Amino acid sequence: MSGTLHDPGRPTIVSIPGAAAQQDPEVAVMMWLWAALGLVTGFILLMATVRRLVLGCHWDRPNPFAEDVRRPPLAPGTDQEARWRVLKQAFSDAQVPDQLDAVVIGSGIGGLAVAAILAKAGKRVLVLEQHAVAGGCCHTFGRDGLEFDTGIHYAGQLKKGSFCHFFLDQISEGQLNWAYLGSPFDVVVLEGPNGRREFPMYSGEKAYVQGLKEKFPHEEAAIDKYMKMVKEVTKGTLHLVLLKIIPLPMVRLLDRLGVLAFFSPFMRAATQSLADVLSQLPASQELKAVLSYIHPIYGVIPKNASFSIHALLINYFLEGTFYPRGGSSEIAFHIIPVIQQTGGAVLTSATVKSVLLDSAGRACGVRVKKNGGLVDIFSPIVISNAGIFHTYERLLPEKARCSPGIQSYLGMVQPGVSTLCVFICLRGSKKNLGLEANNCYIYFDTDIDQAMERYLSLSRDQAVEHIPYFFITSPSAKDPTWKDRFPDQSTLMMMLPARYEWFEEWQSEPPHKTGSDYEALKDSFIDASMSVLMKLYPQLEGKVHNVSVGSPLSRQFFLAAPHGETCGVGHNPNHLQPHVLATVRAQSPIPNLYLTGQDVFTCGLFGALHGALLCSSTILQRNVHLDLLQLQSRVSAAPPKRMN
Ligand SMILES: Cc1cc2nc3c(=O)[nH]c(=O)nc-3n(C[C@H](O)[C@H](O)[C@H](O)COP(=O)(O)OP(=O)(O)OC[C@H]3O[C@@H](n4cnc5c(N)ncnc54)[C@H](O)[C@@H]3O)c2cc1C
Ligand SMILES: *[C@@H]1O[C@H](CO)[C@@H](O)[C@H](O)[C@H]1NC(C)=O
Ligand SMILES: *[C@@H]1O[C@H](CO)[C@@H](O)[C@H](O)[C@H]1NC(C)=O
Repeated sequence: MSGTLHDPGRPTIVSIPGAAAQQDPEVAVMMWLWAALGLVTGFILLMATVRRLVLGCHWDRPNPFAEDVRRPPLAPGTDQEARWRVLKQAFSDAQVPDQLDAVVIGSGIGGLAVAAILAKAGKRVLVLEQHAVAGGCCHTFGRDGLEFDTGIHYAGQLKKGSFCHFFLDQISEGQLNWAYLGSPFDVVVLEGPNGRREFPMYSGEKAYVQGLKEKFPHEEAAIDKYMKMVKEVTKGTLHLVLLKIIPLPMVRLLDRLGVLAFFSPFMRAATQSLADVLSQLPASQELKAVLSYIHPIYGVIPKNASFSIHALLINYFLEGTFYPRGGSSEIAFHIIPVIQQTGGAVLTSATVKSVLLDSAGRACGVRVKKNGGLVDIFSPIVISNAGIFHTYERLLPEKARCSPGIQSYLGMVQPGVSTLCVFICLRGSKKNLGLEANNCYIYFDTDIDQAMERYLSLSRDQAVEHIPYFFITSPSAKDPTWKDRFPDQSTLMMMLPARYEWFEEWQSEPPHKTGSDYEALKDSFIDASMSVLMKLYPQLEGKVHNVSVGSPLSRQFFLAAPHGETCGVGHNPNHLQPHVLATVRAQSPIPNLYLTGQDVFTCGLFGALHGALLCSSTILQRNVHLDLLQLQSRVSAAPPKRMN
């Protein structure tokens, strides 16, 4: 069956100027032509840039952040039934709203946030999610009656008064409530031939540095130098935003002139690897390992990781970490009603098979799989939260996929490392079991690059004996509402690196029908994980009630990550050349098709939210970053609003 729900000829509500900017002729570089042509073009581009950045916007277009919409929060996470009603609205023709302004593929935080911003600007938006539950990496799932997170273990930069906190408040009407996770927020454990050493990472820059210096008293100079670089680079977060807003030919021009590298430490460090930067410090192998401990968060090993992205992530957690009260499904639960306010909807079990293009090659809707049939939904704007690979390799019709624009785009990026998760149900409360809200990263080798490369080169049967690190976290210990929701029970999650190829042969099987070899492989990873866990937390012996595994295939199935990758495109220095960073932006090479989420900015809650801000700015032709900042300064100047 193939039906048409809406008239494709309906006038578009949001117009899309600037869509052709990508095809603008590149400014000639030849030295002599330069002087004449370059100056004139430079001037025009400068004017265009100033208009876009400062005047920023068309003030006649609706401002999504015109007023402070926070209201007193409801009690979080208590009514599970009410939650499911919002998070599991299965797709049917009848549920598709009329007169759509935009359709979003994927309900991760990047998709929900852009839909909510557009709704706040008066648009009617439909979000389509392939999984049965909305939320993407923010969705939770049940195991043995307990609840587990998918991809939000801790988030930074969410102090009251911070930009992200304020942003999330405005798209959830103040309903999200963030629990502070205390200090230290991470503990790094190095397990070596000479025994175990533990390194706590404390909240707050001063305590963080102090903690490192206490553990490495002879390496204070290296620590200071490293922190200075981290701070200098992260001042350039704004440069990354600018790079994705200013017209592409302008970026190319500035890049060729060397202006970007000259003025921005962020741009300079983006193309240096973490391992290279550390090798220039007078640091011991052990200190280097501790300074690199966070690499699993961005999914690239130190030698392949861009120092700028590393610094962003260090800075992300530096001032303390937070967890959503009531669990991470609270995020989608409170954003969805905002999308519904203008007649929009978030529908699940709705796999988008392809993006529809009109005869001029512009996106005009999506084709959705439904009960073995297909339904076409038309919309003047299509936004993809499904990531660069999925969108360009799988969702575009073949002709568009093979176009030079898309192929050169795909050639610039590659997926990051994949992981395997072990979910453990425990009998006993946080207190009885001695569980903490902080996370533990345990390493068995101080040469992380070498250990990881060796591990990933092994066959799956050998690999299980050489797992180079584990990330261990207790979701139940972080959520202050857990003890009321699940008394005398707890959860732990362990994450370890894994190759998608080890599991690939089962990729076409549904998760519950993969057979005994697959189960045996998963069991071998469970055994390896449990033996590490019991050495680290002997008090858990006899308390384990149930253990299960999420492999890269589960991530492919539930999150539609094409290679089971954890963090979208890899943050590899070769791929972080300024022109690549600038090219990977919300506007795709296909007119009317936009990207949102982690691939547009960086991974993490914070990165995906910035992706949504960039995407909505492009579509609304307003600088919504500025709109938010203006609202925030207005609100903080006014007397405090009563929130309870
Ligand atoms: C195991 C793990 C641990 C992590 N830990 C942290 C952490 O502690 N802190 C932190 O800040 N970040 C963490 N992250 C990263 C963070 O969760 C992500 O960067 C962020 O949530 C990504 O958001 P997104 O909206 O870009 O994409 P996603 O959340 O991946 O959303 C994409 C959505 O699109 C849907 N989709 C894809 N294709 C289709 C299609 N064809 N049709 C319909 N729907 C489709 C998917 O099902 C998915 O719901 C972690 C990630 C993982 C995987
Ligand atoms: C473990 O959890 C799974 C999924 O919820 C369930 O099917 C299984 O029976 C549980 N096993 C035990 C020992 O409780
Ligand atoms: C590191 O980067 C190189 C070059 O891009 C790549 O071949 C290799 O697979 C990467 N290693 C890991 C572990 O990602």
